[in-house]
Amino acid sequence: MPRSGGGCCQCCFSFIFTCGLTALFMWLSLRTSNPKCSIKYFYLPALNQTLNNTTNTTLYVSLVLNNGNKDKGIYYDNVNLTVSVPNKSVGNGSVPKFYQGHKKKATKMVSLGPDELNWTAVNGSVNSSGFVQFRVDLATAVRFKILFWRTKRHRLRVGAAVEVNASGTKVNKKEIRLSAADQQLASYSGQLWVLLNFLVFILLNPW
Ligand SMILES: *[C@@H]1O[C@H](CO)[C@@H](O)[C@H](O)[C@H]1NC(C)=O
Ligand SMILES: *[C@@H]1O[C@H](CO)[C@@H](O)[C@H](O)[C@H]1NC(C)=O
Ligand SMILES: *[C@@H]1O[C@H](CO)[C@@H](O)[C@H](O)[C@H]1NC(C)=O
Ligand SMILES: *[C@@H]1O[C@H](CO)[C@@H](O)[C@H](O)[C@H]1NC(C)=O
Ligand SMILES: *[C@@H]1O[C@H](CO)[C@@H](O)[C@H](O)[C@H]1NC(C)=O
Ligand SMILES: *[C@@H]1O[C@H](CO)[C@@H](O)[C@H](O)[C@H]1NC(C)=O
Ligand SMILES: *[C@@H]1O[C@H](CO)[C@@H](O)[C@H](O)[C@H]1NC(C)=O
Ligand SMILES: *[C@@H]1O[C@H](CO)[C@@H](O)[C@H](O)[C@H]1NC(C)=O
Ligand SMILES: *[C@@H]1O[C@H](CO)[C@@H](O)[C@H](O)[C@H]1NC(C)=O
Ligand SMILES: *[C@@H]1O[C@H](CO)[C@@H](O)[C@H](O)[C@H]1NC(C)=O
Ligand SMILES: *[C@@H]1O[C@H](CO)[C@@H](O)[C@H](O)[C@H]1NC(C)=O
Repeated sequence: MPRSGGGCCQCCFSFIFTCGLTALFMWLSLRTSNPKCSIKYFYLPALNQTLNNTTNTTLYVSLVLNNGNKDKGIYYDNVNLTVSVPNKSVGNGSVPKFYQGHKKKATKMVSLGPDELNWTAVNGSVNSSGFVQFRVDLATAVRFKILFWRTKRHRLRVGAAVEVNASGTKVNKKEIRLSAADQQLASYSGQLWVLLNFLVFILLNPW
């Protein structure tokens, strides 16, 4: 086949096109999504008015951490929990670091005993109907395992309001999803930035 000048240009375009597709494919297979966190169980026996006994001031929380990534495991650093009532932090707890495989869901029980929970402050924020407005904030960092390597740490900060009634449990029967308003956006813009850099790198390379 005789080659013309146009053939070279065509070849060049198809090369760029292939690179673009490769970049897109790489982005699709390397992108990660943060685990989803929620509160399944929240019980403070001292707030249970049916029990009529405020001796047991331990707070029991169970967290659900869900790795929705199809083929990436997650290494969690220590997962820190901060429990607060309006304007005051009243307790701190943590889950030791652990590894979670892809598409796995972990349920972690955290109990905040008298040393970790300021009962005086909690008792002070109970309203006359026995309700307390709590807030739970979670802070950790995660690394994703992609085939044989680990990504750098991604910070994860999410939280939610938890309303507790006179039974000492959360009013909402469903799991309470912890969220961060700006987090999803930041993660997407980070991925787009990588993709853009890759494309610019390809286009500016003199072949
Ligand atoms: C509150 O205390 C009562 C009486 O002991 C008990 O029956 C009930 O299960 C407790 N509530 C919760 C949510 O555990
Ligand atoms: C709660 O316990 C106190 C003693 O600790 C008792 O005097 C009171 O009657 C109890 N209230 C109810 C509703 O059982
Ligand atoms: C409250 O419960 C504790 C054990 O959890 C028990 O030792 C204590 O006697 C109880 N108090 C009352 C007033 O029932
Ligand atoms: C406090 O309450 C929890 C949940 O009902 C129970 O498992 C635990 O044994 C109680 N602790 C004490 C010291 O009574
Ligand atoms: C929390 O603090 C803000 C201002 O710092 C105040 O307006 C608000 O009333 C406080 N809320 C409670 C429940 O103390
Ligand atoms: C929990 O930890 C935070 C941050 O380290 C601290 O500001 C707060 O006072 C702690 N709260 C309690 C009840 O220890
Ligand atoms: C617990 O909370 C009370 C009331 O807010 C405060 O006076 C006290 O210093 C707190 N205790 C600790 C150990 O933080
Ligand atoms: C909780 O607060 C009430 C007043 O709001 C007080 O009468 C009660 O003694 C407190 N209970 C404890 C265990 O501190
Ligand atoms: C206590 O708080 C609950 C939930 O926020 C609210 O529905 C209730 O009216 C409050 N009770 C009083 C006496 O303020
Ligand atoms: C969790 O708490 C530990 C101990 O206080 C601290 O070293 C670590 O930096 C905290 N992690 C995050 C993500 O805040
Ligand atoms: C508190 O909320 C739980 C869950 O919604 C509910 O089962 C329980 O009956 C409520 N307790 C009171 C005293 O309203």
